[in-house]
Amino acid sequence: MTIRTLDSLGSLDGKTVIIRCDLNVPVKDGVITDDGRIRASLPTLQALASQGAKVVIVSHLGRPEGAPEAKYSLGPVAARLSELLDEPVAFAEDTVGASAQDAAATLAGDGTFLLLENLRFNPGETSKDDAERRAFAQQLADFADVFVSDGFGVVHRKQASVYELAEMLPSAAGLLIETELGVLEKLTEKPTRPYAVVLGGSKVSDKLGVIGHLLPKVDSLLIGGGMLFTFLAAQGYQVGASLLEKDQIDTVKGYLEKAAELGVKIVLPTDVVVASKFGADAEHTVTSAETIEETPFGQSGLGLDIGPETAATFAGIIESAHTVFWNGPMGVFELAPFAEGTRSIAAALTEVDGLGVVGGGDSAAAVRALGFTDDQFGHISTGGGASLEFLEGKRLPGLDVLGWTA
Ligand code: 3PG
Repeated sequence: MTIRTLDSLGSLDGKTVIIRCDLNVPVKDGVITDDGRIRASLPTLQALASQGAKVVIVSHLGRPEGAPEAKYSLGPVAARLSELLDEPVAFAEDTVGASAQDAAATLAGDGTFLLLENLRFNPGETSKDDAERRAFAQQLADFADVFVSDGFGVVHRKQASVYELAEMLPSAAGLLIETELGVLEKLTEKPTRPYAVVLGGSKVSDKLGVIGHLLPKVDSLLIGGGMLFTFLAAQGYQVGASLLEKDQIDTVKGYLEKAAELGVKIVLPTDVVVASKFGADAEHTVTSAETIEETPFGQSGLGLDIGPETAATFAGIIESAHTVFWNGPMGVFELAPFAEGTRSIAAALTEVDGLGVVGGGDSAAAVRALGFTDDQFGHISTGGGASLEFLEGKRLPGLDVLGWTA
């Protein structure tokens, strides 16, 4: 693998560096519930500061649509970053406006780190129009001498702060991106077999798209989380009020046929936990995947986790594989009655004789929330969508622009 790294930027002493991090962490009522992505950003930030650079940090949080929304403010992230760095972190209340400009102008005197407000409060960040993205990137570029890209979680996005900004300034990958690539390349270049991929989570449409590309690369694909119900529906089962992408049923049928042709096992749940409603206080019961509508909740029953039989089957496959990549919780792990599936998969992953990788913000948050520690896994990737697209073998714009070759 090659990619431009920090040393390609020469001396950073006295220079202003703008760095794209992925500080998109879960925030509930102003409180950060998992700071993994902030911690993962620290080594590069510390390396830049130790070289005497002034550091302007940019990131998105959530998916605001081009305008400020208080719940997506990076304010809480600035405070946490400051605690973890044990240094003051100035916070600008806009991204490229008066607050950002004032703060950037005083950066040298008042401290080393400045975090600008959420990039996605500006329509130019995610615009489909190249000129609009370039114009916004230029405003960001005006703050700095060089650009460091370290938000691995967004390298699959062709967005102003990921792509155009890298074209405008001398640019290089940070240490997090280097680390992530080092691990993910082990999964793509001759993974030790058997190789299992476990997919779950709630971003169903995003994940369904990757399955076709992953099938030829893996030995087994285990399906849990929100998308399992579309698979069950494709097999002709009724799924009650569970999450279902009706318009994807034919696509899923195609995947099941393709897997059979390729000799890849798509392993589907045989039992699920069905609830009366969405909530920790819901009544719930375990039922066969074939009888979701035959519980006391009838057609309004809601599948919120894989069942114990499925969890045991999945755990067995994971523990006997030598390479495993897992993206997406198996159920609504935030609610105690529906956390067991995710807990079993996480526990199995800690037992892999080989490389077991947890990929993505939600999955990483899940394992930590369930009491696992980072060092129990081969690697916890900060990128969900990014790592999946990497495993699919896609070109990622945020890496290409840094001169990446596999
Ligand atoms: C993620 O959570 O996967 C990254 O932060 C990217 O976020 P996005 O899917 O909203 O672009």
